[in-house]
Amino acid sequence: MFNIAVFASGRGSNFKSVFENTSKEKIRICALVSDIKDCGAVEFAIQNEIPVFLVSSKNQTGFLNYQELILQLKKIPVDLIVLAGFLKMIPGFFIDEFEEKIINIHPALLPDFGGKGMYGINVHKAVFESAAKVSGATVHFVDKIYDHGKIIAQKSVDITDLNSPEEIAERVLKIEHELLPFVVEEFADQKIIINN
Ligand code: GRF
Repeated sequence: MFNIAVFASGRGSNFKSVFENTSKEKIRICALVSDIKDCGAVEFAIQNEIPVFLVSSKNQTGFLNYQELILQLKKIPVDLIVLAGFLKMIPGFFIDEFEEKIINIHPALLPDFGGKGMYGINVHKAVFESAAKVSGATVHFVDKIYDHGKIIAQKSVDITDLNSPEEIAERVLKIEHELLPFVVEEFADQKIIINN
């Protein structure tokens, strides 16, 4: 079994898509990690009997800190960590523990429209204002700089007929829901090979 942990802070549609569109014989979602106790992603995990771990870098009752989370995830042990709309910056020591085992989905074609503050609708506003003809989604490794790690896969979509950032967000989300499960499957099949 290929064990994954999904990190999410919001409605969790990408989490749901990974759950529904990856093979249950090969891939097991062992944990949903969130910084928000009552978000859609946590609700979906509870409904589907996926263990939930709440994490906070402050001392919050009912939340693990990142050191404790490392221990829990290593105990499973987790093969891949999938950030799917996780909005908190992950501490460097956590990233060091899971080197090249953390991926993120970003709702634009990196390296454009990424970096600090580029999340949610902000990304699509920037794309809309740039008058770009295409947007899309990127799955990349996570390093210590926002949206900076090596790109694993991208999928683009025509946006010339769209008239608002919200419309772009909706079209890109559909692409995200295809790309993320695809990449997770590729990992499980050991098709992602890192050279240097
Ligand atoms: C997605 O657009 C994802 O790319 C971004 O945040 C959004 C999360 O949506 N990082 P959801 O919670 O998966 O529905």
